[in-house]
Amino acid sequence: MSAVRPLVAREDFPILARPMRAGQALVYLDSGATAQRPRAVLDAMVDFDTRSNGAVKRGSHLLAEESTVAYEEARAKVAAFIGAAPQEIVWTSGSTQSLNLLAYAISNATAGRGWGNADRFLLRAGDDIVVTRAEHHANLLPWQELCERTGARLTWLDLDSEGRIDPASLGVIGRRTRIVAFTHVSNVTGAVSPVAQIVAAARAVGAFTVLDACQSVPHLPVDVHALDVDFAAFSGHKMYGPTGVGALYGREELLADLPPYQFGGSMIERVTMEKTRYARPPARFEAGSQPVTQIVGLARAVDYLSAIGMEKVARYEDALTVQLLEGLGQIPGIRVLGPRGGGGRTGIAAFTVAGVHPHDVGQFLDARGIAVRVGHHCAQPIHDFFGVPASVRASVGIYTTSSDIDAFLDALSQVRGYFRAEG
Ligand code: ALA
Repeated sequence: MSAVRPLVAREDFPILARPMRAGQALVYLDSGATAQRPRAVLDAMVDFDTRSNGAVKRGSHLLAEESTVAYEEARAKVAAFIGAAPQEIVWTSGSTQSLNLLAYAISNATAGRGWGNADRFLLRAGDDIVVTRAEHHANLLPWQELCERTGARLTWLDLDSEGRIDPASLGVIGRRTRIVAFTHVSNVTGAVSPVAQIVAAARAVGAFTVLDACQSVPHLPVDVHALDVDFAAFSGHKMYGPTGVGALYGREELLADLPPYQFGGSMIERVTMEKTRYARPPARFEAGSQPVTQIVGLARAVDYLSAIGMEKVARYEDALTVQLLEGLGQIPGIRVLGPRGGGGRTGIAAFTVAGVHPHDVGQFLDARGIAVRVGHHCAQPIHDFFGVPASVRASVGIYTTSSDIDAFLDALSQVRGYFRAEG
């Protein structure tokens, strides 16, 4: 495999210069869990905090004004990055909050706490919410809970032998289906879901679609209007921004009919002692003081990615994925969970090592300066599907290099010998 030329300057990411346990250079292969931030993002946040920090939409002073401008400019930038309009972006603390927001708002509509066309979200006993067996718990538990609260039934799309969503299971989407919530890219297999087919099946029965896009937005060009999904969730910290910030995309006319789920400052038009008229979206869903510093950092991360271009990011990571999968395929005792070939998947590879516990593999790699994730990756059902409780997961980002993959594969090839694994 010929080496792929690096996409970005390693120096752009200060953390990559830190020495690891025995002084080695860091080989960071855990971007699927959280990505590292470029200096530009760190600087943007320090600059905001040292120059402008003020409460947004609350003051008449210069700092409040500058903060409000930064807050709304960031919204427009993040919206454009995923092909949405600014008013379709609700700030949240990340995908988990985005998906919980949506599920709770729908349960409020079901409880009669909406107005206007909120009935369109109403769930009745016997209605179906469809998910997939590949979901991260953040896009499964909120829907399980919503079913418990409303009497709706949870059903799911199944997986084929490679762990991809199986279009043959689309038949579970039927007349009673109200919501279809599915991942864009599995955080275990890296498989890209057949979005167009799932959306078409949902549309045919009038169901809403919810896309967990947190593993796709940092790695692929994503246009939510072109994908034609109704809602989408993504997180800042997986796309080279800070933790504590993310977004819910909602189609404008749907957000307009969705009741709020949290109540407090800045989400109202008029409050009296008796009752309240709520603000239009997105403010309706942004109660309380917002993480403005993180939002500024996320906007800068979007600038960084846009300057490279997402097509280029996807091509680069695709080449690394091919290298990673080819290398894994050559090490005896490795079982990759998910598609073993490139194409239709991103740079996430979860695997098991015969005879060695995933945590031992993780520690062995860590002792050599290589950071991977171990465990069930908050996705137990897909691990059940593969018949294993846990796995090791390597995931790439824009700063991952061919030499990182080589170092990882070289260390991994020594694991079974080190632990005297049999077979
Ligand atoms: N959702 C993140 C992961 O897959 C934390 O690792």
